[in-house]
Order: sequence, then C-alpha cells, then structure tokens
Amino acid sequence: MNIKSVRGMQDLLPAQKRIFRLIEDVARDVLGGYGYQEIGLPQLEQTQLFKRSVGENTDIVEKEMYTFDDRNGESLTLRPEGTAGCVRFAEENGLLFNQVQRLFYSGAMFRYERPQKGRYRQFEQIGAECFGMAGPDIDAELLLMNARIWRRLGLDADITLELNSLGDAESRMRYASELVSYLQTYAAELDDDSRRRLDSNPMRILDSKVEKTQEILRDAPLLSEFVDDESRAHFDELCQLLTDLGLAFRINTSIVRGLDYYNRTVFEWVTDSLGAQGTVCAGGRYDGLVEQLGGRPTPGVGFAMGLDRLALMKAQQEEESPAAHVYVVSQPGSTRSAALQVAEDLRDEMPGCTVLVHCGAGKFKAQMKKADASGAELALILGEDEVAAGTVSVKSLRRDGSQEQIQKESLGTWCRAYFDKEKNVG
Ligand code: HAM
Repeated sequence: MNIKSVRGMQDLLPAQKRIFRLIEDVARDVLGGYGYQEIGLPQLEQTQLFKRSVGENTDIVEKEMYTFDDRNGESLTLRPEGTAGCVRFAEENGLLFNQVQRLFYSGAMFRYERPQKGRYRQFEQIGAECFGMAGPDIDAELLLMNARIWRRLGLDADITLELNSLGDAESRMRYASELVSYLQTYAAELDDDSRRRLDSNPMRILDSKVEKTQEILRDAPLLSEFVDDESRAHFDELCQLLTDLGLAFRINTSIVRGLDYYNRTVFEWVTDSLGAQGTVCAGGRYDGLVEQLGGRPTPGVGFAMGLDRLALMKAQQEEESPAAHVYVVSQPGSTRSAALQVAEDLRDEMPGCTVLVHCGAGKFKAQMKKADASGAELALILGEDEVAAGTVSVKSLRRDGSQEQIQKESLGTWCRAYFDKEKNVG
C-alpha cells in the first residue's frame, strides 16, 4: 500500500502546526479587541451560492471549485472562500436587517489551483466581514486591525498595503467596455487566457503576468478615470484617514481582485519574502452582494488572510532566530525529580518559554548533545552537587559556552534577563 496525500493538500508537521496556532491566537486576540465575534460556517455550500457571488466567469468558479452531486443529486461545493458563506449565514440567521455586525471565521478553503510554494488546494484563512457600515471609517479600521496583527506577529516590516478603488458597478461596466474596445485592436497579440477573457471577464486581463500583454496594457485606459464621484470621495476619505493615523499604503491601480463581488475599496497586503505568492491578506467592499443574494441592500466590507502564507513567513523568520528555549539535563533517579521541579517553576515564571526536560536515561555528554541539537539556547544542568547546594548550572549553548551556578530561586529572573538581552542584541 502506497497511499500518498492528495496533491496540493498539506500535512502540517508539529513545528508548522504550532506556527499556524500562534497566528490564529494572535489574530483572534486582536479581532476580539475590535469587537469581532467568531462564527462557525459549514465547509460545504450549495454550488449556486458561489456562482452567484464570486461570479460565473471568474477563475475560481470556472475551473477551481471542488463541486460534486451528493446522494440526493444536489450540487454542492467545498467552499473556495468565506465571504459568500458568511453573507448567506448572516442573512439566514437574521443578523443583517437594521443591524451592524463585525464577524469573523476561520478554517479550510479549497481551490483546484496549480500547487506551488504558498499556493495549495486546501488552505487556511481567517476572514472578517462587517455588515451595515457604508463609510470609509470601517475600511480604515479593518486595515488598522490588519496592521496590528502583523505587528503582533513581528511581520510588519515585511508586509505592505496596496489599495485601489473599483468604483460602483456602473463605472466598472463603462470601464470594462472601454478596455475591451482598446484591447480588441491587439487581440491577435494577447495571450490565450487574456483573449478568452475579452468576452467573459475583461478586467482580469489587467492581472495577466504575460509580458507582451502587460506591454499592451501600458497604454490602456485606466480604471481610476472611470470611478464615479461618490466612490472617489469614499476613497479619498479613506486615504486621508490612513494618512492621519500613520498607516502607510501605496495606491496600486492594477488591483482588480479575482472575485466579482467587489466595489469601491479593494486592498492587498503583500510581501516580497515569499516569491510569486506574495499576497498574505486581501479584501475590500462588497456593497451589492447581500442584495444580489436575495437580501435587503446592506453594505459589506471584509478581508481574509492566508494562514499558510503567513506561516511560511513566520517560519522563515524563526529559522533566522530560533525560539528561546531551554533544555534540562539530569540523571534518572535522585536528580530527575529536581529537574522536573525546576522546569515546572520556570514555566510558571516564563510562560512563553519552551522548557524541554531530557527524559529517559543517557550519559551526561549524550544529553548535552541532545540539548545542542534541540536548538535550545541554554542547558540547565542538575547533578548531585547542584541539587545538594540548591543551585542549577546554566550553560550557554549559542553564545560562548560559558557556565554559571545560579541559585534555584533566582533562575527565573536570571533567564528572563538573559533572553531580554538576547532580544535586544538581535
Ligand atoms: P482571496 O484573495 O481569494 O480573497 O484570498 C484571500 C487570501 O487567502 C489570499 O490573499 C491568500 O493569502 C490566501 N489564499 C488564497 N488562495 C490560496 C491558495 N490557493 N493557497 C494558499 N493561500 C491562498 C478571498 O478569499 C475573499 N473572500 C476575501 C474577502 C473577505 N473579501 C472580503 N471579505
């Protein structure tokens, strides 16, 4: 038997899963601080939901959905994203009429894309959606919240914000028809995908990575010239708010997004550190979506961050600076219980610190090798002498190999000072 995992579906080893969990914990904590409430959404929805929201002519609906008929012959789809399901959920549970909602969800999404680093067929998102707020202040607040998450994760130096405004549905339609008439004169020179999109979804041509197509697009009409006045005012106000609040951004007029439901504000948080799959979080406004799915007109705005990509960034960072932790060395028998106790005390005093106790037998030298291999920065040694004297020998494994005797009671204070100093040096 040689059964392998399904292509594009990642196994998460303990080190990866730990990072996913860390990101989720930070995101949950920050979202809570802005009054967002977590909801649970099913992974399966009726196929029609995605066709009517994400759009029939998008890549997602045309070629990336995991769609099948269940035993009753009903067409179901493994959710490729969360916004459509969240709108369905909010409407079905009566959360929209005359109300303001800040909701979030997390979990797996499924898209049949070509797998590569940072792009998988099953991937994790944390998404947030706000309903009932039409102004640019909530757009700004969402972005501030994103920025706070990056700061808390220590990733803010590597993630930047790109913003655009798509205008309303009508301005987009006018623009699309101008774009098509411009591109039709170059139809023979366009790549196959872009030529096909001329009929189905012309604005997606702006996203083409093909050089010749990009060259043709250089003189194409600009979406920003077609944006209606109200949307323009909304966008100007958003930019002003972000500037007042000190949140840096770049206006990128080629952001159109691959899902049809957006209007006005769209944004992407991008990084250079992941290669081609550099968008770690994306979103925007979708003021027409609730109505489009059968509800009363309700403004909406939200984002989803890709945990897999953020986890890759965090893992790269951790490789550069291994997590602070200590390895406790002792002998089975008399000194082992002292070692377990010292580890317990240290965990009480330094909740963020990983304390690994060597369990089982092993000569002192062999245990020190294990301590080294574990990536620990400090080895705590408890031999007969230390136990008798109420001390612990602390050996620096990463710095200079120096060793000191510390009184058991002052170990927590000593370790905290050591790791603080490390952090400042780093
Ligand atoms: P999206 O841009 O399709 O938007 O996805 C959001 C994020 O999910 C991306 O920026 C990326 O980090 C991650 N992601 C997407 N596809 C993959 C993949 N195949 N592998 C790994 N990560 C991936 C949405 O899904 C919208 N629902 C966002 C939204 C919420 N807009 C308004 N509210």
